[in-house]
Amino acid sequence: MEQHTPPLLLMLLLFTLSASSSFQPALVLEMAKILLENYCFPENLVGMQEAIQQAITSGEILQISDRKTLAAVLTVGVQGALNDPRLTVSYEPNFVPVVPLMLPSLPTDQLIRLVRNSVKLDILEDNIGYLRVDRIIGEETAAKLGSLLRDNIWDKIAHTSSLIFDLRYSTTGQLSGVPFIISYFSDTQPLIHIDTVYDRPSNTTMELWTMPSIKGERYGKKKDVIILISKRTMGAAEAVAYTLKNLKRAIIVGERSAGGSVKVQKIKIEGSEFYITVPVARSVSPITGQSWEVSGVSPTVSVSPKEAVTKAKSLLAVRSSIPNIVQRISVIIGQLYAFTDRVPALQQQLQSTDLFSVISEEDLAVRLNQDLQTVSEDPRLTIKYMQDSSATAEEEPELYKDTDDPKVLAELVDTTFKVKILPGNAGYLRFDEFIESAALMKLEEVMAKKVWEPLKDTDYLIIDLRYNTGGYSPSLALILSYLQDASQRSHLFTIYDRIQNTTTEYYSVSEITGPTYGSKRGVYVLTSYYTASVGEEFAYLIQSLHRGTVIGEITSGALMHSKMFQIEKTDLAITVPSINFIDNNGECWLGGGVVPDAIVVCSLATSRGSKHQTK
Ligand SMILES: *[C@@H]1O[C@H](CO)[C@@H](O)[C@H](O)[C@H]1NC(C)=O
Ligand SMILES: *[C@@H]1O[C@H](CO)[C@@H](O)[C@H](O)[C@H]1NC(C)=O
Repeated sequence: MEQHTPPLLLMLLLFTLSASSSFQPALVLEMAKILLENYCFPENLVGMQEAIQQAITSGEILQISDRKTLAAVLTVGVQGALNDPRLTVSYEPNFVPVVPLMLPSLPTDQLIRLVRNSVKLDILEDNIGYLRVDRIIGEETAAKLGSLLRDNIWDKIAHTSSLIFDLRYSTTGQLSGVPFIISYFSDTQPLIHIDTVYDRPSNTTMELWTMPSIKGERYGKKKDVIILISKRTMGAAEAVAYTLKNLKRAIIVGERSAGGSVKVQKIKIEGSEFYITVPVARSVSPITGQSWEVSGVSPTVSVSPKEAVTKAKSLLAVRSSIPNIVQRISVIIGQLYAFTDRVPALQQQLQSTDLFSVISEEDLAVRLNQDLQTVSEDPRLTIKYMQDSSATAEEEPELYKDTDDPKVLAELVDTTFKVKILPGNAGYLRFDEFIESAALMKLEEVMAKKVWEPLKDTDYLIIDLRYNTGGYSPSLALILSYLQDASQRSHLFTIYDRIQNTTTEYYSVSEITGPTYGSKRGVYVLTSYYTASVGEEFAYLIQSLHRGTVIGEITSGALMHSKMFQIEKTDLAITVPSINFIDNNGECWLGGGVVPDAIVVCSLATSRGSKHQTK
C-alpha cells in the first residue's frame, strides 16, 4: 500500500466539505484520529491524517455553520470514502450512552427466565426437532446455566431425526456463543476454524474454533439441519447461519439476513457534541475469506419468513427420501447396466455423491446424472427429472415371428422395401424398418425377386434410410451380407445383452441363395435426423466396415438398447443401457448420432412429421 498518496477517502471527504460553506478543522482532525484508533479496517485509512493536515494548511476546508448539516455532510463523506454504510456522524447534544445489558452478572433465576423467554423447543411430526432461539447467549452465560441448557434443550434435540433451527427472530446475541452451536452440529474431530475476529481498539485478533468437547450429546454431522432466517436475523445468529451454510452443514431457508456487525461503537468526538459511529471489530470467515457483516447471509432457498417452516418441512420430506432413491438407482444399475465392469465404480460414486445441498428431486437428478456421466462416460446412462411422469419405457417393436403364410410374407416385403432404378443406372432401395431377422430369412426368396434381382445390374446403390426408425438389430447382418461377396464370411458386430447375460457375435450370412450386390460397387446411405436406432446402427456399420459412404444429416442419436424406469414414488426416471452394440473394430456404440461422411440437409419435415413429433 502506498503511504504517501492521499487515499480516495480524503479526496472524497474533502470534496464534500469544500462544496459547503463553513467548517471546523479540529473536528475533522479529531474524527480522523478516532477512525485511526478504532475503525476495524485500518488498512483503508493509510495516509488519511497527512492528507487532512495538508488540506487544512492549504485552506481547502471550508466552514459549515449548521451542526446537523455538518453531521450529515460528514456522514456522506466518510461513508462514501470508506464504502462502509455503518459509519455515521451525528450531532447529539443530549446523548446518553446506553449501558449494555451484561447477562453474566444477572442473578441465575433472572438468566433462566431470560433464556426461557428466548428459546422455544418442540418435537414435530416425523420426529423433526424445532428449535427457535431469539438470543444467542455468550460463553459465560452458557457456562453459568450449563447443565440446565443441556438437559432442557440440547439433549432433547439430540434424539430427533432432523432439525429446523429457527433464527428468524434472533436479533441479538454474543459471538462467543457461536462455537458451542457450531460444535454441537459438528463431529468431535477435526476441530474447525469458524471465524477470525479482529478488534481494532485492542489491536487483537481472536480465532473462534469448534470445541473438542461439549457438555452432553452432539447432534453431529449426519442429520439434516435447516436454518430459518429473516431480514431481522442479526449478529451472532448470522454468524451461525453463515458458518453452517458454508460448512455445508445446514440448508438456509428464508430471506437475506440483516447484515449486522460484530461490534459497532458510538464514540464522542472530543471537544464537541458530535458522535461518530464506528465498526470497531470485524469478522472474517476462514471458509470463505468473507463475512456475513453488512451484506448478510443469503438463503439457499428464498421464501417469505411466514412460509419458512412449511418450506423447511417439505425440504426435509424430500431429503428423507433421497437415500432410498439412491439405493434403488444403485440396484437398477447393478442389475441392468451393460458395461458390467463399470458398475462397481458407479455404485461407489452413488454412495459418495455430495447430496448436501439437494433440495428437490430435480436437483437430485442433476447431481446424480452428472456423477454417473463422469464415471461411466456413457451418454446413454442418464437420470432425468420428468414432471410429466406419463413417459414410460420404450415400446417394443411388433413381432412377426409366426408369419409363414407366403402371401403375408410377400406383402410384408412389398410394403417394406421400395426399389427403383434411377437415371444413370443407379439402384435405389428404401426401407423404413428392419424386419425381424427370422422373418427376413423366410423372405429370402421373395426378397431376391423383389429387391436384389432388379438391382443386380446397377452401377451403384443408394440405400435410403432417411425414414428408417429401427427395428431388429440381428437383421442388420442379413442386409449387410447382401452388400458383400457371397464367399466372404466376416465378423460384423457383437451384441452383449446384460439381462440375458449373453454375448452374440454376428457374421455375414453365407447361405444366401439369391444374387447379392457384392463388395465392389459403390453404396451410398442416406440419413436424416429421423434415422433412428437400428437405422443408425446400419449407417454406423457401413462406416466402420468401410462398405459405403453415408450422406445426409446426423442421425437422431435415439438411445437404443436402453431401458427406462420410473423410480418408485418419484418423478425421476433412469435410462440404463442394457445392451452393448459393438462394431467389427471392438468399438461400442454409445448412442450419439452417426455423423455422415458428407453432411447434406434434407427437408423431411412434412413427409413423416406427424409420426415423429412426439420424439
Ligand atoms: C497491531 O499489532 C501488530 C502486531 O500484532 C503490530 O505489528 C501493529 O503495528 C499493531 N498496529 C497498531 C496500529 O498498533
Ligand atoms: C454372465 O455369464 C458369465 C459366463 O458366460 C458368468 O461368468 C457371469 O458370472 C455371468 N454374470 C452374471 C451377472 O450373471
